[in-house]
Amino acid sequence: MKIILLGYMGSGKSTIGKALSKHLSIPCIDLDDYIQEKEQKMVNEIFSESGEIYFRKKERFYLEELLERKDDFILALGGGTPCYYDTMDFINSNTKAVSIYLKTDLDTLVKRLASEKNSRPLISELNTEELLREFIAKHVFERSYFYNKAQFVIDNVSIEESIKKIKSYLK
Ligand code: S3P
Repeated sequence: MKIILLGYMGSGKSTIGKALSKHLSIPCIDLDDYIQEKEQKMVNEIFSESGEIYFRKKERFYLEELLERKDDFILALGGGTPCYYDTMDFINSNTKAVSIYLKTDLDTLVKRLASEKNSRPLISELNTEELLREFIAKHVFERSYFYNKAQFVIDNVSIEESIKKIKSYLK
């Protein structure tokens, strides 16, 4: 199986992916890391040098490349990956993939992203917590339509609980 983790920036996709990787003994690939390695550039450099549309095309291209592989892995998507082209339908039509939305409350997202926003081009310019909160609230709302297309939704639970739930979906 390919376990596809999706959700907003700061929702714990990479953290849960890594923990799950240990439990299931299959690798975890972070799509942003994969893109960075293939393109030999950081995500924020790709955004600033080539623009967001270019990034979205590459993101989709590398997602397709990964989903063509025959091996099992966990894939932590970027927060925006599900929201472009027909990506959620593309993922859900793959019989070897299971999509899981890590839904996270606004306070948690704001807290996590306030300390890590500089590496994320979409929020790096939001200089007060109020601006950050307002942006995230609106953005999550807009993106929820895509996120909710996931086959499973995990609503705001601990890492341990998320892992238990994910394991139960695989049975
Ligand atoms: C983005 C999320 C980032 C990264 C890029 C754009 C988004 O990934 O792909 O900065 O549009 O939400 P993370 O969700 O891993 O931070």
